[in-house]
Amino acid sequence: MPELSHLRDRDEIRITMVCLGNICRSPMAAAVLANRTADWAKPKILVDSAGTSNWHVGEGPNPPSKKTWEAAGYKFDHVASQITEERMKSSDLILVMDRSNHKNVLALTQDAALQSKVHFLRDFDYTITGEREVPDPYSLPDSAFEEVLGMVERAIDGLLEELSRS
Ligand code: 4NP
Repeated sequence: MPELSHLRDRDEIRITMVCLGNICRSPMAAAVLANRTADWAKPKILVDSAGTSNWHVGEGPNPPSKKTWEAAGYKFDHVASQITEERMKSSDLILVMDRSNHKNVLALTQDAALQSKVHFLRDFDYTITGEREVPDPYSLPDSAFEEVLGMVERAIDGLLEELSRS
């Protein structure tokens, strides 16, 4: 599990969830994170998400993704945007869904300090030892979105435990 002790004393931590389109997985992860940390005062969690592509910039979430997080009780508004090196600078923790996201985000910068902010979201799921990817559910049946939600929830449980450890 990535070491986050350098973030624990901060007043605010900006966390950026990243996938390919920023309409399915990363907005769902942002929805879970925002709802779970809504009452955190210190550190306050500033929730962000972005896609590596510009394909859906300005669009709302993919309807089955939003339907899945709303059915689970999460309320969240989202407009798609693209990750840039500038956004990597303003974020504290950049959490990607799959290997392709990982490669594409690392390629945005030569700065090792920025690259060190990038981790797989599922690195924080201490219940798994193998697969670290959150698979792309785009255009798949609702069950694929429900599976993604479970993966995202378990990883965020671990992330918040890591951030709140004293
Ligand atoms: P996401 O899913 O990366 O989880 O938002 C996708 C959304 C759109 C596309 C691919 C994946 N697309 O090909 O447009």
